[in-house]
Amino acid sequence: MCGIVAYVGSKQCQDLMLEGLKRLEYRGYDSAGIATMHNGKINVVKTIGRVANLEDKLETVGGVRGTIGMCHTRWATHGGVTDPNAHPHTDDRAGICLIHNGIIENYASLKTYLQEKGHVFKSQTDTEVLAMLIGELYDGDLEAAVQAALREVTGAYGIVVMCEKEPETLVAARKGSPLMVGVGNGEFVIASDGSAIIAHTSHAFSLEDYQVVKVTPKGFRTSTIHNVPVTPKVQQLEIDLEQIELGSFSHFMQKEIFEQPKALRNTLRGRTDIREGKIVLGGVGSFAKQLTMAKRIVLTGQGTALHAATIGEYLIEDLARIYSVAEYGSEFRYRNPIIEENTVVVAVSQSGETADTLAALIEAKERGALALGVVNVVGSSIARETDAGVYLRVGPEIGVASTKAFTGQVAVLTLVALYLARRRHMSADQCADMIRELEQVPDKMERILEDDARVRTVTEKYIDRDNWLFLGRGYNYPTALEGALKLKEISYIHAEGMPAAEMKHGPIALINDGMPAVFIANRGRQYEKVISNIQEVKSRGGRIIAVATEGDEHIKTLADDVFYVPDVPECLSPMLTVVPLQLMAYHAALLRGHDVDKPRNRAKSVTVE
Ligand code: F6R
Repeated sequence: MCGIVAYVGSKQCQDLMLEGLKRLEYRGYDSAGIATMHNGKINVVKTIGRVANLEDKLETVGGVRGTIGMCHTRWATHGGVTDPNAHPHTDDRAGICLIHNGIIENYASLKTYLQEKGHVFKSQTDTEVLAMLIGELYDGDLEAAVQAALREVTGAYGIVVMCEKEPETLVAARKGSPLMVGVGNGEFVIASDGSAIIAHTSHAFSLEDYQVVKVTPKGFRTSTIHNVPVTPKVQQLEIDLEQIELGSFSHFMQKEIFEQPKALRNTLRGRTDIREGKIVLGGVGSFAKQLTMAKRIVLTGQGTALHAATIGEYLIEDLARIYSVAEYGSEFRYRNPIIEENTVVVAVSQSGETADTLAALIEAKERGALALGVVNVVGSSIARETDAGVYLRVGPEIGVASTKAFTGQVAVLTLVALYLARRRHMSADQCADMIRELEQVPDKMERILEDDARVRTVTEKYIDRDNWLFLGRGYNYPTALEGALKLKEISYIHAEGMPAAEMKHGPIALINDGMPAVFIANRGRQYEKVISNIQEVKSRGGRIIAVATEGDEHIKTLADDVFYVPDVPECLSPMLTVVPLQLMAYHAALLRGHDVDKPRNRAKSVTVE
């Protein structure tokens, strides 16, 4: 997702905006740009590549001056990765300058209209069309011109606009793409994410869809695109700098893998009652009855979140005995889904902004489902669309590859499954036993993390192999999918995850001498079957890397390398078995010399379809 940072106040803003922009680098982008206004003139500098490239370019031009400005990181959608397509964009008449996250869907017809009026475009972007449209409608009042332009637009936007004729004003607006306004003392920072604001002020408000804010050093005014005034709720940002800084770690992904035990304790805190043998989920309390009566639960998400959702499917079906199914948001929303009475849809998402997950949720809601969120970012679009929900509480996830959010999602889904099970048939004693096991998971995770150096050594052995398989069964089939996704997305090694039994139905043809096959072979109902699958791969020359339960000596006779995880009930095992796979992916990316936190072509949050 693109990043937005804008400032108005009394300070020279180039460097402070770039600092903010760097905090958004993790979201993924391919070009960057900045504009400031000085003596009524807007200066734009932009370039393809990293924020560091933008800094170099700024140095060669002597920097840009001004106490008002905006900067942006772009992740290309309309038009290739070129300097002219980077933001900010300007119009050709009224001195308008604009940055934009999202997509203007009707840009083509608007562009034709503007070209007929004589406007000349310099880029292929939908964003430039919006800058031109605002310029076309500008009649001495920037706020009114932005409102009028947005009434003509369909699509998603988070925008910030300034105009040479109003040298102390920023106007920002949102529909479907998050935007926050940090309220300081005589200064304001507008950003697409609180992490770019927190260094300046901890007071901020989020714009709602179809809202516009006009900001000057003296204050702000919020309204709708129809100019109806609204009063935003200024709140304390729940981020501290330590959470978004690396500290002693080399990469955010590494920090977040190692943070998992602490994050998980946070997820569980206050949500279990061992004495009563029950789960306490304040966020779903008023819907408890409806949830308990659910006949079908549809879990939806994308990528890693879908893998967590699939574990949720197994958990809910196994523990709560409710028919449940996990499905890609992108597929669910377009398949004309059947939503019967007593259907619950659960949207699983770290960011709470994933376009397909959000759309699936809305689709299910419109068809009558009760909507539940399993989300990390408080107040995000998905969190706001749901009827009820359980936050992950794992803290900001900055590494593009999701790690602590995954284990947090699985932990929350475990709580949801136990909550439902207990209200339906599970005894207090059974539930108390599970809580006891669940609460030991963070300590057990710590033991696995101690094996980090060995994981690196093992990864090094296979680092020249370009094709890997990840295989698991039952609860650990989704873990296999997650292990493969982690490896491919940051190390660019081709990896496939699948149910271990599926291998015989085709993929077995891929196995050749030395191909690494990672088996999740912890103790559980299907252990013996996984062992047979290991034999099948081994006898065809595959190299076996097994994730096994501590004390399993037999596996050593079959596997080339073993990572041990402490014993837990099978339904809790994915939170442990995934950890060596996360570490392996991390080390593989480093060993291949890749930028772990900024993998190519990836964006942290995918807000387009
Ligand atoms: C993989 C990864 C993605 C996300 C997916 C959904 O490491 O990060 O697959 O899991 O884009 O994102 P959220 O959870 O924000 O909805």
